[in-house]
Amino acid sequence: MQFKTNPKTFSTLALRIIPVFEENTAEILTSKLGFSGIPSSIFSGKKDTSYTLELEGQVILLVGLGTNPEYKTIENSFRRILSKNSSLVEKLVSIDFDDNFSADQIEAALVGFQLGSYSIGFYKKEKPKDYSKLKVEIITVIDKSKSLTDRAEKIASAKIEAFKLVDLPPNKITPEYLGDWAKNLGKKSKLDVKVFDVKKAKSEGLEAFLAVGRGSAKDPKFIIIEYRHPKAKFHLGLVGKGVTFDTGGLNIKTQGMHHMKSDMGGGAAVLATTQLIAELEVHVNLTAIVPAVENTIDKESFLPSEIIGSHAGLSIEVIDTDAEGRLILADGLSYLIKNYKTDQVIDLATLTGSSIGTFGFECAALFCNDGNLSHGLQLAGEEVGEKSWPLPLWENYGKEMESEIADIKNFHGKPFAGAITAAKFVQAFTHNHPAWAHLDIAGVAFGDGEFSKTKTGTAYGVSLLLRYIENQL
Ligand code: BES
Ligand code: MN
Ligand code: ZN
Repeated sequence: MQFKTNPKTFSTLALRIIPVFEENTAEILTSKLGFSGIPSSIFSGKKDTSYTLELEGQVILLVGLGTNPEYKTIENSFRRILSKNSSLVEKLVSIDFDDNFSADQIEAALVGFQLGSYSIGFYKKEKPKDYSKLKVEIITVIDKSKSLTDRAEKIASAKIEAFKLVDLPPNKITPEYLGDWAKNLGKKSKLDVKVFDVKKAKSEGLEAFLAVGRGSAKDPKFIIIEYRHPKAKFHLGLVGKGVTFDTGGLNIKTQGMHHMKSDMGGGAAVLATTQLIAELEVHVNLTAIVPAVENTIDKESFLPSEIIGSHAGLSIEVIDTDAEGRLILADGLSYLIKNYKTDQVIDLATLTGSSIGTFGFECAALFCNDGNLSHGLQLAGEEVGEKSWPLPLWENYGKEMESEIADIKNFHGKPFAGAITAAKFVQAFTHNHPAWAHLDIAGVAFGDGEFSKTKTGTAYGVSLLLRYIENQL
């Protein structure tokens, strides 16, 4: 898409989009159309409504946003335009924002509008509609509107990247693909990127990570990206679970296995956020780690009851090979905390079905040992519609993970408190870092939605982390 703000001449051949707050419907219609006489039974600016009309040869799309709409409501209302009304859109679109729109609300609208161009028909003979040449004129009273459209373009492309990484199949999105993705980002954005192969991971002691990858024909890759800014206000560490496919290993999954291409959703969020932070040149230092690995079966697979090592030096009794995410997070976190002195650490992982049992698909389960970080993440998530809610890290849950033969076991073997005991396992590898947060995103990384018939990636984490970081500056 090609954005242009406040063009001198108004193109009448464009589809004209007018977003409308419910409380100002009459004023907005009067000021934009010259009349307010659309009966409220037809259009009253309510949330999730729209109305198309033709006026003097121009097609006008009124988009109702309701009262005080949240970021996500605006984003989705605009995503609907290309996603559902693409026949209205030709070569040119103009979006005419009323003076009451804040910069944040315009950002949400422009991000959502671009997300509407995303479609998962990658492997179809008939290619999805191409919007790269679509011209979009923005009318707004906000100054610096050019930087607003630039920013929205970067946010949308990071989110689309996160969608793709999750939605593309596991024979495409392999650990090697993610490693190459990171190297390409490094070249484009001049970031320091390291991708450890098996040999290097061995010499670095990433034994838990390597155990998970042992049964796969695809070599595991341990990805590290460093973004540095001279005016950085703090140093944030991110770790994302990058299981490119989770069969369960020898404890093989018997249900919903095809959904497990999404088991790198945390990794996708971390990679896409890193891209975004670099493109926006945010005043932060960021070290991002994605242990990328496929969990599958072969004669070399790790076995239930095996004792494996870990980067932190703890021995681990493997009770269940399907509890693999915590094993790679353990090494990712330990490596990050030992080698980089980050002020805060956040990990994102599609870790447990139990977190879905607790919260459904509404929010991530948040585990955190620091009040400011915890509140900051909850607040940022509410602001952008990527919510999380806390669960406890009480020591009695940690006791569940004690092993008789090793330092710790990867599953307590009981049908309760699965998300919490997983978090306690992960915490054991954080070297008592004082500001660590773990987001179990199993219920929110991949899901049903109005924009496709099957489950698709949500990019959960990208907007949340950007907002969280910017709120600290
Ligand atoms: N990747 C899964 C968790 C998951 C489940 C993500 C459903 C998204 C949707 C994880 O690796 C897993 O298999 N967890 C097990 C752990 C158990 C064996 C201790 C689970 O939650 O059942
Ligand atoms: Mn698993
Ligand atoms: Zn998994």
